[in-house]
Amino acid sequence: MVTALLCLSSAIASAQAPFDFVPMPASVQYADASVSAPFILDKNVRIEGGEAFNVQYLKDHLARLFDPMGDSWAIGGRTISFVRVKSFPQEGYSLEVTPDRILISASTRTGEFYAVQTLLQMLPPQVYKRAEGPDAQLLRQWKIPCVQIVDAPRFPWRGSMLDVSRSFFSKEYILRHLDWLAYHKINKFHWHLTDDNGWRVEIKKYPKLTAVGAWRGRGEALEPAFNSGEERYGGFYTQNDIREIVAYAADRGIEIIPEVDLPGHSKALAVSYPEVVCRHDADVLSVQGELHNVLCVGREKNYAMLDDIIKEMAALFPSKYFHVGVEEVATDSWKHCAECQKLMKKLGYTDEKQLLGYFTERMEKILAKHGKTMEGWEDIVTSGGDLSRNDLVLVWHRQNVLQQAIDAGFPVVTQNCDYLYLDMKYTPAERGHTWASIIDVEKIYSFDPLQGLKLTPEQEPLVRGLQGGLWTEMMFYPPHFPEYQMFPRLCAVAEIGWTPQAQRNYRDFDNRLSRTHFERMRNMGIRFRIPAPQVDAQGNVRSPYPNMVVRYTYDGTAPTVSSPVVTGPVVTDHPEKLRFATFYGDLSSIAVEVPAARTYRKPAVRVETSLEANPHYPVASLSQYEPRRYMRTARPPKQGDYVLYTFEEPLTCQRITVQTADPVNQFYGVTQGHVEVQYADADGFERLSAFDMYNRVAFEPARPVKAVKIVIDGPCEGKAVSIQSLIIE
Ligand code: ACM
Ligand code: ZN
Repeated sequence: MVTALLCLSSAIASAQAPFDFVPMPASVQYADASVSAPFILDKNVRIEGGEAFNVQYLKDHLARLFDPMGDSWAIGGRTISFVRVKSFPQEGYSLEVTPDRILISASTRTGEFYAVQTLLQMLPPQVYKRAEGPDAQLLRQWKIPCVQIVDAPRFPWRGSMLDVSRSFFSKEYILRHLDWLAYHKINKFHWHLTDDNGWRVEIKKYPKLTAVGAWRGRGEALEPAFNSGEERYGGFYTQNDIREIVAYAADRGIEIIPEVDLPGHSKALAVSYPEVVCRHDADVLSVQGELHNVLCVGREKNYAMLDDIIKEMAALFPSKYFHVGVEEVATDSWKHCAECQKLMKKLGYTDEKQLLGYFTERMEKILAKHGKTMEGWEDIVTSGGDLSRNDLVLVWHRQNVLQQAIDAGFPVVTQNCDYLYLDMKYTPAERGHTWASIIDVEKIYSFDPLQGLKLTPEQEPLVRGLQGGLWTEMMFYPPHFPEYQMFPRLCAVAEIGWTPQAQRNYRDFDNRLSRTHFERMRNMGIRFRIPAPQVDAQGNVRSPYPNMVVRYTYDGTAPTVSSPVVTGPVVTDHPEKLRFATFYGDLSSIAVEVPAARTYRKPAVRVETSLEANPHYPVASLSQYEPRRYMRTARPPKQGDYVLYTFEEPLTCQRITVQTADPVNQFYGVTQGHVEVQYADADGFERLSAFDMYNRVAFEPARPVKAVKIVIDGPCEGKAVSIQSLIIE
């Protein structure tokens, strides 16, 4: 369809079969184009029938292609006709294109809506463009080859989970995200509304949840975290915002499932109402290193409070399900608490973990009182509570855990961390977590929710589907990173969830993306991930896709849209300074270099510091130049703390990079501090720049260097700082 794009200037253009649908419909049968004339779409086509929202949605999109729309749509013989046919499945539809008519049949408004989505994918990608510029090319007509599509999804649950606690996303961003999901026929939005680092939903009865718990920063109840900075950071959704978002989603066939993560992951709740956590002084840390983030299960008043919170939220969210978290609970907190121990004795329990089962049973009852069915992470199964088999289990570990939940009789959805955690890196060189896996597009596409399972025919319907999930600790840089992590991986989630397994093929999917769907996404306003070019040791460069160019620089900086395009061999005496990046319009990949062209030096260096090191991450690491080893402090740094690297011999080099934060998660960087250098021919230190958003300072010394010093200028994020060996070229 690249050719179709180029034809636009002629103002009469055609779609070409086969269409690059994403997700691919279940059945697509093209008519023989040599005998069948195409359907001609222009402003004279009349739209008949159809649910009002769907018709308006279609018209709004067509108005981006044809001008003027207006009343002229009411005349003419050709039609787009919607009819309701009861026999279609809930989300299914058929779409038949003949020379005189596009006939859309469905049994529900959602089926109609999905037919409209499929129709949009038969149109040029400009149909997704929100604001037309002055140079917008409008069409006189668009020819659509005749085709018969009969379609319905493979799984009823095709979802996206977004953590809005670690990073906050505005109402406008959420609405855009919902648009993007709808374009991909994704029908569930799992809204992770609360966690340790921010409470994001207005609760009228407990105003401190958002007055206090929605904000972090220096001097706030919640500490700075994840590079959001010293300043007050955060936000929340008012109940009016939520009503608007829920209605917007419902119009687009999307159900929103709220999550309040309990009884762990509750630091934001705990700083707002400190009485909710166990009273003890023990250092019980959660997996993420939070103290006192577990609700006291022995405190009866907590259940009344949760009842109030759920009551307000149940009225906002029409979804049958309500997600209560239950994962990663530091149950040792209950060991040290008199009230929890009293409850244990009363219940005859011998292990604190049993209290988690008790808690889930209580939550299930509270939810039922407000008309909701419990959803929780897989931990609701392993907690040992006596639960209804209507409860929905969201499995985040591997397929064996999915099998366990199914064998226990629960309906399940998978967010398998090996495949569906969108906070993981695409490739080792890119940003992101790695603890579960590294997940490129081919790997996520290869996933089948049924893989590795042994299911009886009765068990099969228990697998409701899948969702991709974005945890948002690492989203503060680079710009648009959430979208980079989500797309195109969510396109793969959409196709896994929708398309019959036997019809899925990665090469074909990848071709559809590059020929057409990338262009659609760009018009949707998605800053999706572009793969890096392949560069070999001889400096040969290959673009990942024929319609993307590679740009380069000679000076070690990241290429920009105005850098030259690689058209032949790049000749230079300094291959170590070459940087390449793939460009698709103004979207670009990470910058890559010629492999092994840079040489790293390891001059003998002595390191002294005023910081106290954690014994597992000693100061000695800093003179070893091993990429995985680093120093971490045992306590937070304070203003005036320093790390001093003194070279045994004056060092002549091209470049020194001072990198803080750990190399694995990029947490605990120096957020307030600067670097100083002492040259061999001078006595004092010269101040260089402050640490940037990557917690890094790089400089090119013009004279031999004697020493480099990191100076802390103020408190940094978190309870430690991590410092790496100098990177010397
Ligand atoms: C999770 O990753 N905490 C479900
Ligand atoms: Zn307690």
